[in-house]
Amino acid sequence: MNLTLHIWRQHDPESPGYFHTEEVSDVSPDISFLECLDLVNERLMQRGSQPVAFDSDCREGICGTCSLVINGVPHGGSRGATACQLHMRSFRDGDTIVVEPWRAKAFPVLRDLIVDRSAMDRVIQAGGYVSVGTGSAPEANSLSVSKDDADRAMDAAQCIGCGACVAACRNASAMLFVAAKVSHLSLLPQGQAERRRRVLNMVGKMDEEQFGACTVTGACEVVCPKEISLDFIGRMNREYGRALLGL
Ligand code: FES
Repeated sequence: MNLTLHIWRQHDPESPGYFHTEEVSDVSPDISFLECLDLVNERLMQRGSQPVAFDSDCREGICGTCSLVINGVPHGGSRGATACQLHMRSFRDGDTIVVEPWRAKAFPVLRDLIVDRSAMDRVIQAGGYVSVGTGSAPEANSLSVSKDDADRAMDAAQCIGCGACVAACRNASAMLFVAAKVSHLSLLPQGQAERRRRVLNMVGKMDEEQFGACTVTGACEVVCPKEISLDFIGRMNREYGRALLGL
């Protein structure tokens, strides 16, 4: 495949960014999008140019670091997949592809396609944990957790904290991320000790970190690589209301 890539380049947080155009030839349809960027970097370095900075770690949809907006869609629009799971066969020979970093006030661009997502870590630090001793894994049948609750907790726990929900939202809201983290712990007995404090602290921190408000457009759910349901936002809002009332 022969492709034209318009890639966002930005030297540091203070410098203005711009699109660099790179013609990439002989791209195998079987490589991943990140491998295509590796190819671009090899060719840039052969020419003595600076490689494009981008984040990646697991390259198998687990860590959530591959934060790329591809043709205007976080993770490139392949349902239930991260950018590292996107293959070049999703494009057509001769395509033009625009690659940008996450765009949100809470995610300042550090360099090229890398953004600072530590705001999400601080939201987790505000309450996304349990302080009770959980010991080693108990015998499954000794836990009094209903199958429905266990399934919903596991659905929420799938969130990998990639930030695609924020990047897709016109308000740059982190509600889907926070709702997933709040719900996964509040559905389980181990998460009850800090239940009220958790939701109040995490929502408060989310606002403090300048994530926007949720207007339920649903864009977050559409781009979420783990297909976290919008229902969790409703669940968190109810949890938040109960906590405010001290229930
Ligand atoms: S590199 Fe880990 S999810 Fe993409």
